[in-house]
Amino acid sequence: MTDLTGKHIVLGLTGGIACYKAAELCRALIKEGATVQVVMTEAAAQFITPVTMQALSNRPVYGSQWDVRAPNNMLHINLSREADAILIAPCSADFMAKLVQGHADDLLSLMCLARPLDKVPLLIAPAMNREMWAHPATQRNMAQLALDGSTILGIGRGDQACGETGDGRMLASAELRDDVIAFFQPKTLVGERVLITAGPTYEAIDPVRGITNLSSGKMGFAMARAAREAGAEVTLVAGPVSLATPRGVSRFDVKSAVDMLQVVQEKVTTATIFIATAAVADWRPANAADQKIKKDGSGKTPELSFVENPDILAIVAQSPRGQHQALYCVGFAAESHDLLANAQAKRLRKGVPLLVGNIGPATFGQDDNALLLVDALGVTDMARDSKLSLARKLIAEISTRIKMKNQK
Ligand code: CTP
Repeated sequence: MTDLTGKHIVLGLTGGIACYKAAELCRALIKEGATVQVVMTEAAAQFITPVTMQALSNRPVYGSQWDVRAPNNMLHINLSREADAILIAPCSADFMAKLVQGHADDLLSLMCLARPLDKVPLLIAPAMNREMWAHPATQRNMAQLALDGSTILGIGRGDQACGETGDGRMLASAELRDDVIAFFQPKTLVGERVLITAGPTYEAIDPVRGITNLSSGKMGFAMARAAREAGAEVTLVAGPVSLATPRGVSRFDVKSAVDMLQVVQEKVTTATIFIATAAVADWRPANAADQKIKKDGSGKTPELSFVENPDILAIVAQSPRGQHQALYCVGFAAESHDLLANAQAKRLRKGVPLLVGNIGPATFGQDDNALLLVDALGVTDMARDSKLSLARKLIAEISTRIKMKNQK
C-alpha cells in the first residue's frame, strides 16, 4: 500500500511557467498509487504540451468542454464525479479570480463549478509573480476561496522566472505530493499542540570530539509528520540528524541533552502533547575541554569522567501540567531485551500515561520498526511496518486516549 492507493485525482493545469513542475507532480502522485486525470486550460498548453501530460498520466488529457470523445458530451460532469479531489497546480491569479466569480467558460472552471461540493474537495497550488501574489485582488480572492471551502496549499518563496525574487512560486512537486497525502489523513489532532524530541544528542568531550549514539531520528520525524497530517501544530526539537523537516512542522536543532532540555522547557508551556522519541545520552563528560585534547606521545590516555544528564521526559512528565495530564506525555523505550517488563517498569518510573517500547538495535537507522504500547489498561502490539505507518497508527492511538481522558 502506498499513501495514495485508490485515490483518483483530477490534476488541473492553468497558465504559468510552473506547469513544468506539474509534470513531475503527476508522476509523484502516480508513484504514491493515485490515478491522475489531467485537465488543462488553453493557457496551460502554451507552457507544456498535453502530449507530455498524457504520456505521464497514461490517460487522455482534456482541455475543451466541446471535446467529442466523451460519449454523453458531459466531460465536466463525468470528470468531477469520479474524482476524490481536484488539484489545480499551477493555479494562476486569473484562474483564482474565475473560481471566485464562478465562471464556467472553459472545461476546468466549468468542472470546478459543477463538482459536488460535499464530496469533491478542491485543492489549490497558486503560482504567480510576487506582485500579482501580493495584489489585494489576489489576496481577497484567496481568502474567498478558503471561505468557499477550498484548500489553499500555500506558495513557495525565492527566485521567480521573471527574474524577481519573492513570494508566489508554486511549491515543489514533492511538497505538493506530501500536502495531498496529508489532506487525506484523518484529522484526529486538530486543536492540539504537539512537542516532539527526536534523534540522538551529542555530548562534547572537546571541540572536535564527542559521544553520541546510533539513533537516526527517523521515528521522531515520522511522528512529527503524522501529527501534522492529523491537524496538530507541531514543534520538533531535533538532535544532530540529517533529515528533512516534515511539511508544516517548526523545527529547532540542538546538540546536547542540556540544550534539548532548555528548548523543550521553553516550548512545552504551550504544548498539549509531549512525545519523547529522542535517544538522549544518559551521561555527558563532566568537563568538556575548551581546546582539542592532544596526544603527548607518552601513550597516556585521557581520563574521562561523566555526570548524568537531566531526564527530559521525567522532568516534563512530573511537572504539574504533566501530572494532571493537561499535557499528555508519551515516552519511548529503546531496549535490547525483555521489552515488555522493561517498558512497563519504565512507564511507571517516568510517570507517563503511555510508553512505547521498541528493540533499539533492531530499529536504529532502519525505515521500519515494531512497537509495543504499554498503558494503564494493558498492552497493544504494533506489528513491523514502516516508521511512517506506525507513526500514523500511534497518533490515532494517542488521540483515542486523549478523547477518553477528556470524557472522564
Ligand atoms: N529520555 C529523556 N531524557 C533522558 C533519557 C531519556 O527524555 N535523559 C526519554 C527518551 O526520549 C525516551 C524515554 O526517556 O522517551 C526512555 O529513554 P531510554 O533511553 O529508553 O531510557 P532511560 O531512561 O535512558 O533508561 P535506560 O537507558 O536505563 O534504559
